[in-house]
Amino acid sequence: MANQDDNQFKKIISHAKEYGFVFPSSEIYDGLAAAYDYGQNGAELKNNIKEYWWKAMVQMHEEIVGIDASIFMHPATWKASGHVDAFNDPMIDNKDSKKRYRADVLIEDHIAKIEAKIDKEVTKAAKRFGDDFDKEQFVATNPRVLKYTGQIDDINARMKAALDGENLNQLKALIEELGIADPVSGSKNWTDVRQFNLMFSTELGSLADGANKIYLRPETAQGIFVNFLNVQKTGRMKIPFGIAQIGKAFRNEIIARQFIFRMREFEQMEMQFFVKPGEELKWYEYWKEKRIKWHKALGISEENYRFHDHLNLAHYANAAADIEFNFPMGFKELEGIHSRTDFDLKAHEEHSGKKLQFFDPHENKSYVPYVIETSIGLDRMFLAVLSASYVEETLADGSERTVLKLPVQLAPVKVAVLPLLKKDGLPEKAREIIDELKFDFTCQYDEKDAIGKRYRRQDAIGTPNCITVDHQTLEDNAVTIRYRDTAEQERIAIADLRNKVSDLVSVNNLLRKI
Ligand code: GAP
Repeated sequence: MANQDDNQFKKIISHAKEYGFVFPSSEIYDGLAAAYDYGQNGAELKNNIKEYWWKAMVQMHEEIVGIDASIFMHPATWKASGHVDAFNDPMIDNKDSKKRYRADVLIEDHIAKIEAKIDKEVTKAAKRFGDDFDKEQFVATNPRVLKYTGQIDDINARMKAALDGENLNQLKALIEELGIADPVSGSKNWTDVRQFNLMFSTELGSLADGANKIYLRPETAQGIFVNFLNVQKTGRMKIPFGIAQIGKAFRNEIIARQFIFRMREFEQMEMQFFVKPGEELKWYEYWKEKRIKWHKALGISEENYRFHDHLNLAHYANAAADIEFNFPMGFKELEGIHSRTDFDLKAHEEHSGKKLQFFDPHENKSYVPYVIETSIGLDRMFLAVLSASYVEETLADGSERTVLKLPVQLAPVKVAVLPLLKKDGLPEKAREIIDELKFDFTCQYDEKDAIGKRYRRQDAIGTPNCITVDHQTLEDNAVTIRYRDTAEQERIAIADLRNKVSDLVSVNNLLRKI
């Protein structure tokens, strides 16, 4: 991560804490690694993201319904899904620093360093050639760049062969051959590579009764698969149809880092779309387009999004892509769209002995549907929105501010009502306005400090509308409304406030764009 981006990320993390968005978990005991609590503003922002997703996926689609499955599931679920046997990361310990790493991530970080060398060559050449510079041609012909690309391809191929063949000795040999050192201590004194299952387990019932080992779900998707038939029958659903769910998932990540990007307890918003076999690639393209539209409707700069199509597919997938977002630490996966074939339903049929099929009246036969999955991390979405919204700027009057230019529909507080003075009946009038608006919007009352300071506080949490109550209000029943992004102000009748704010912040504005 470049230093400048690193600083920006640190600022965002401390802003999130200072303004009640995200706190380290159990901070009074010095926190717990990779666990975070959402504060008063964070919980509102998170709820608004969920509402936007749920409405876009469920309310806007007749053929999609939502469920809420339990976190604990029968342990056979995880045997069938492949998680017991194969939900592993290869880990390696450094004997000197006692730090633990993911072996593949160490190698990927090494590749990133070679990529940085290529970037350096490109920047140098761009400077040298000026307007005549043709990046594509340079990258395809420059001997030094070609040498670096060759190295990257070779490392990638060897890593893939080692991972696919589960050859952990080969993985360790690659780390040693590349001279990869512990990023903390610089030591190259490594243990062997071992497989580490990412599922958290616990016991159901008392040990005395012969307790059963169960798992905390590592994805919400399996709660949908095991309910396929329940929902299809009770909802009289016809193929194609979808089941959506928002809920917690748990993974014992070896390296959980980068704030709320990679956590051990996190939330997923997943939807499984069941289709007729043979039609899955059409629906895969459909959902790729729908999901990117959902993101872009938020108005965050489009340059921040890109698709990454998977070349190496999991054995059960016949197409897969990530929507990557330009986080403060660079482009990383935000959401996955996967064509999962009939792998999961078939596996559950085998392990449960129950038929998980759909009777197609047009074809007069039953089949196991194919599945397109859309899966997004709620916490990652939170980080994407927060980091893209954080702005430090100088206003026209020369004053400086830190403002969260959140998509207004997602802002934790929609309206702040501010009496100009703490007397003369202005606070009472402000309360009256809140009592009317609070049925539709989250409102905040603030009478402390000069008005400018109060604006700054609302800017810092991204409040799109600040309403000031002054002496004139008592006479004409009008207030000043100030808009967050432009800092422009206008006078408006109190009677028109509800409609005005609603037009600005309604989530329907986003839904209509998708
Ligand atoms: N059911 C498919 C599935 O779980 P995944 O790519 O492993 O696929 C889906 O996860 C999404 O969940 C990711 O794109 C990411 O947004 C989020 N996610 C995964 N692991 C996470 C973690 N440790 N912390 C936060 N979010 C995570």
